[in-house]
Amino acid sequence: MTAEDIATKPVRKLDEAEAAIELERLATEIAGHDKRYYEKDAPTVTDAEYDRLRKRNTDIEARFPTLKRPDSPSDRVGAAPSEKFEKVRHAVPMLSLDNAFDEEDVADFLARVRRFAKLEDDADLAIFGEPKIDGLSASLRYEKGVFVQGATRGDGYEGEDVTRNLNTIDDLPEKLTGKVPDIFEVRGEVYMSRADFTALNERQAEDGKPVFANPRNAAAGSLRQLDPRITARRPLKFFAYSWGEVSEMPADTQSGMIEKLEKFGFSTNPLSRCLNGVEEIIAFHAEVEKQRASLGYDIDGVVYKVDSLALQEQLGFVSRSPRWAIAHKFPAEQATTILDGIEIQVGRTGALTPVARLRPVTVGGVVVSNATLHNADYIAGIGNDGEPIREGRDIREGDTVIIQRAGDVIPQVVDVLLDQRPKDSKPYQFPDKCPVCGSHAVREPDEKTGRLGSVTRCTGGLVCAAQAVERLKHFASRMAFDIEGLGDKQIEAFHADGLIAQPADIFRLKDHEGALKTREGFGEKSVANLLASIEVRRDIALDRFIYGLGIRHVGETTARLIARHFGTFAAFREAAQGIGGDADDLSALTDIDGIGPIVARAIAEFFAEGHNRDAVDALLAEVTPQEMERPGADGAELPLAGQIIVFTGALEVMTRPDAEKLAESLGAKTAGSVSKKTTLVVAGPGAGSKLKKASELGIEVIDEQAWLERAGQ
Ligand code: IVH
Repeated sequence: MTAEDIATKPVRKLDEAEAAIELERLATEIAGHDKRYYEKDAPTVTDAEYDRLRKRNTDIEARFPTLKRPDSPSDRVGAAPSEKFEKVRHAVPMLSLDNAFDEEDVADFLARVRRFAKLEDDADLAIFGEPKIDGLSASLRYEKGVFVQGATRGDGYEGEDVTRNLNTIDDLPEKLTGKVPDIFEVRGEVYMSRADFTALNERQAEDGKPVFANPRNAAAGSLRQLDPRITARRPLKFFAYSWGEVSEMPADTQSGMIEKLEKFGFSTNPLSRCLNGVEEIIAFHAEVEKQRASLGYDIDGVVYKVDSLALQEQLGFVSRSPRWAIAHKFPAEQATTILDGIEIQVGRTGALTPVARLRPVTVGGVVVSNATLHNADYIAGIGNDGEPIREGRDIREGDTVIIQRAGDVIPQVVDVLLDQRPKDSKPYQFPDKCPVCGSHAVREPDEKTGRLGSVTRCTGGLVCAAQAVERLKHFASRMAFDIEGLGDKQIEAFHADGLIAQPADIFRLKDHEGALKTREGFGEKSVANLLASIEVRRDIALDRFIYGLGIRHVGETTARLIARHFGTFAAFREAAQGIGGDADDLSALTDIDGIGPIVARAIAEFFAEGHNRDAVDALLAEVTPQEMERPGADGAELPLAGQIIVFTGALEVMTRPDAEKLAESLGAKTAGSVSKKTTLVVAGPGAGSKLKKASELGIEVIDEQAWLERAGQ
């Protein structure tokens, strides 16, 4: 019997020798996953698979207690703290939670509590229910109400000192309010909202940096930065739900403690509440699960805690988790289906992205028929750092695969069922030619690591119809030229018929008015509307013009920085063209705050290509990018120069990005969190901790109406 056979054998069928082999394999495998999850913030298996491995380990240990290894994963939480940070020994260990997967497990938990606490079956047992936040836990030490040290969990006994990074989190009070214990270690979860996660990934992609797989990894990666200024730019949040060392307990129940934590100035989760009896507990699970998709942040279950702290103490701990609490996980949003084929899509920058065409299947209430396969390495079972993923299993056409949908994230193929693989299947051959234009498709070496980059790119540039179409779509999109009536479908059709090949052609569509009117789906009126919405864009804001060019790594934010720095397109172009295609001196662009070498090189390369310069010239013959006012140009002081403004709560007249843009155009800087440097806070309805912090720091706070007046609107 091979190790692989043992790994798939049910626990009850293992003999002692096999169990020992399997425990060794599981210890190594789980330790590897822990290292990737906790130290690198880059897991290679799903949470469900990880939980399965851990459960198998404890099940085997329960059957063969004498075989339990000294390095058993059951006795371990997390991973040793990284060498990058100073270490902090937790005065009270930070342990983990046992998992329940179904109602029976929950009933077992309650029965166990009653047995240990010697409670009758019908005696009241108050349980406090909380959502299980999918972030990373942190411990915050307050002495005489002042935040003095913060640490990650690490291995539960020793964590990493991330005090300065935690200090940047808005939800985390620097000083507590009210009568607080002299020593108070507050614990809870650091997390990132889904919206902030998506925005962060967009920025990462724009800057050519790696994107995070999910909000949890983004939160962990952001908190564990050596440079706290980077953490400060990542919008992290914190829910308090637990504690470590406390000099005098301010309450005697979990619910009472949560109330106190809130009074002291922490955010606690609004869904948490007291529950009585198994029915209420199960109903709470269902209720929270229903709200899961709309919460705005990721949770992966609920936690039940015995409410009485005296009872908690009596129940105590067993190895890595307390007897008085359990996590009731939500079923993973996963499903199994057949991968009918792999198709390659070519994007605006020529990236070849493999897409899985699936037999339609319902995952978490949504029918899924496509899923991303990321890149060639992902299909081959190789991760970003060259390490194996899915234990090296590759993905083939015809395979039965596991699909996962996490929150709003696009569906992914997370694993393959090898025992269902067709006998005649062959490894997938990633194309070395662009499927659209036939040009070579290459993987460029990564400048930093020297390894081949993960992206395979078509070298055809504008010769490639796919790239041309994607660039046209980008050009007409909302944040660029925003041409109403010219959506993706119209662009594809016009391009296929030779009506538009490059952006300038859009402004010459009026020469084809007759031909347009006879097209299916187009009439007199819609053609007139389309041509009118094209005409109004002949005058265009400089930042939109630059963004619309679709230069690699130049997103809206970068385009805005460039426009404000140069003021005119001619000045920008002169600087960029002056650099040349492969020059080392990029300072004409990297001197701009917020523009790094990757972006600067991409811009220089764009202008070094003759066909790009021709396309820009043709476009300039049709449209006029407006001059952009440069902050402080001509010695003219802008009205809000020197101000640092924070917008919080709901704005009713303007969207927050527009309000920020307006503030910046008037010379102010905007920030995501309130600090001593903040000069003005604009607070709308629903403003919370930022508003509180502003009043604590004595910063001026105004409402939206007053802001609009001040901004001269
Ligand atoms: S209580 C001694 N409550 O889940 C028990 N943990 O799997 C301390 N978590 O390490 C944990 N939400 O990172 C607790 N409401 C909650 C939680 C929660 C998320 C995390 C936490 C913990 C892990 C255990």
